[in-house]
Amino acid sequence: MGRHFTALKQGSGKMSKVESPGNDSGRWQIMSDRETENSQELWGGRFSEPTDAFVQRFTASEAFDRQLAVYDIAGSRAHAEMLMSTGVLTADENAAIQQGLTDVLAEIEQGAFEWSVAREDVHMNIEARLTELIGDVGKKLHTGRSRNDQVATDLRLYLRAALDAINVELTRLQTGIVTLADQHASTVMPGFTHLQVAQPVTFGHHLLAWNEMLERDYGRLTDCRARLNVSPLGAAALAGTTFPIDRDATAAMLGFDAPTRNSLDSVADRDFAIEFCAAAALLMNHLSRISEELVLWTSAQFGFITLPDRFCTGSSIMPQKKNPDVPELVRGKSGRATGNLVALLTLMKSQPLAYNKDNQEDKEALFDTVITLGDCLRAFADMIPAMEANETTMRQAALAGFSTATDLADYLVRAGVAFRDAHEVVGKAVAHCVNADCDLADLSLETLQSFHGDIKEDVFEVLTLDGSVAARDHFGGTAPNQVKAAVKAAQDLLASR
Ligand code: ARG
Repeated sequence: MGRHFTALKQGSGKMSKVESPGNDSGRWQIMSDRETENSQELWGGRFSEPTDAFVQRFTASEAFDRQLAVYDIAGSRAHAEMLMSTGVLTADENAAIQQGLTDVLAEIEQGAFEWSVAREDVHMNIEARLTELIGDVGKKLHTGRSRNDQVATDLRLYLRAALDAINVELTRLQTGIVTLADQHASTVMPGFTHLQVAQPVTFGHHLLAWNEMLERDYGRLTDCRARLNVSPLGAAALAGTTFPIDRDATAAMLGFDAPTRNSLDSVADRDFAIEFCAAAALLMNHLSRISEELVLWTSAQFGFITLPDRFCTGSSIMPQKKNPDVPELVRGKSGRATGNLVALLTLMKSQPLAYNKDNQEDKEALFDTVITLGDCLRAFADMIPAMEANETTMRQAALAGFSTATDLADYLVRAGVAFRDAHEVVGKAVAHCVNADCDLADLSLETLQSFHGDIKEDVFEVLTLDGSVAARDHFGGTAPNQVKAAVKAAQDLLASR
C-alpha cells in the first residue's frame, strides 16, 4: 500500500521531452518549437500568436497532474455514458469514446503515453490523444463539461481513493499498537510530566494513549471522506450547461453520494483538500510526538525500547552508532504536512468565485501530503509491532524517580491527613531520600514514621510500583486490568471498521 504512495510521487509514463519532474536541469531547458505550436491546436481560434514558450511551460501542470489520469478517465467514461443516455451522443459515438479511453489508459499504464507540455494538463493530454486515436468523435467528449468541473471531480476521486488507502495503513498501525498494549498490560514504566518521572504507569496504558490520538485521526479522515463524496460533474465552467445532462447518473456511476448543489461552489470549492490536509497535519503531528518518544526511548540514557536493525541505519564515521532514522524522518516530515496545510489555506483565502487558475497550485501540496502521510503510516505500521520493550530498564527508571510519592500522600489522606499536609510530609521524606541517595521504598518503617506517626507497616504495599499502578483501578486508569479492558474495547472498535 505504501509502495502505492511512493509510486504516485514518481508519476508514470514517459516524461515529456523537455522536462521531467525532479530533474532541475531539465526544467530550465528551452522548449522545442513543435510544442509551442501545439497549444494553437487547443484554443488557437481566439489567438493571433502562439503562447510564449516559457509561459506555456509556466502554466502547464501535466508534469504533476498526470497522477490524476486514472480518475480523469473514469470521469470521462461516466460523462460520455451519460451523454449517450440523454441523447447527446449516439451509441456508436459513446462506444468509440469508451474504447478510445481504454486504449489511452493502457498506454499510460504501460508507460507508452507521450505526455506533452504543450497540451498543458492531464485533461487536455488525454483528450488530445483520444482524438488522435479515434478521430473527430473524440472532440465530442467535452460537450457539456469544462476542465473546471473535470478537475474538481478528478481531485475528489483521487482523494477518496487516497483516503481509503490511508485508512487501511492507519488501521494496520493501530492494530499493531493495541496488540503490543495487550502484551504489556502490566509492564511498568515511569509516566512523565515535564519529562520528569511523575508516577508509574503501565507501558500498555502509554501505548493506548497513542491509539486514542490515532482513533481521533481516523474519525477526522472518515468525516472528511463523507463530506468530499459528492459530484461536481455538470457544473461545467461555472454556470452549468445548456445540454441535457443527468447529474444524478454521473454521480452514481462514479460512486458519489449525490451531485453538488451549486455550480459556482462546485468548481470553486477546495475545502475537501484543506480538510484532508488539516486532518493529515494533525495526524502527522501525532506521529511526530510518538517519534520523539521513540527517539528518546531508544537512546542509551533511556534504553526503554530496542528497534530492530532493519528500521535503523548506522553512521559512516562512528562504528558504534545505531540511529533511529525512521522516527526521526517521520518527525521531520511532519513539517511538510503543516506547510502543505498552510499553503492550501493561503491559496484559497482571497479567491473570488468561481474557478481561478490559482487552483492549479492545490495539487502538489495535496499530493505531497498524501504521499508523506501514506509512507509514514506504512513505516510505522511495519516498525511498531517489531519493537522490543526492555522491561527491566523501564522498571528501574520508574523506581529511580520517587514515582510513588503521590501514593504515599494518598496513603496518609486515607489515614485522615488533609491532602496539602500529606503533600508537605512526603515532600520532606523525598528531600531526605535525595540526600541519602535512596528511594522511598528503601526507608525503614522507623524513618518513615519520623515523618508522620500514622505510617504503618502496610505502607510498603503502596510504595511498590505494582501496587501503585494496580491502585489506579477505574475507567481510563493505568491498572493492568483496566488496560486489558481498554485493549478489548479498542479491538472491538477496530473490528467494527
Ligand atoms: N489544470 C487546471 C487546474 O489544475 C485545470 C482546470 C483549468 N481550467 C481553466 N479554466 N484554465 O486547475
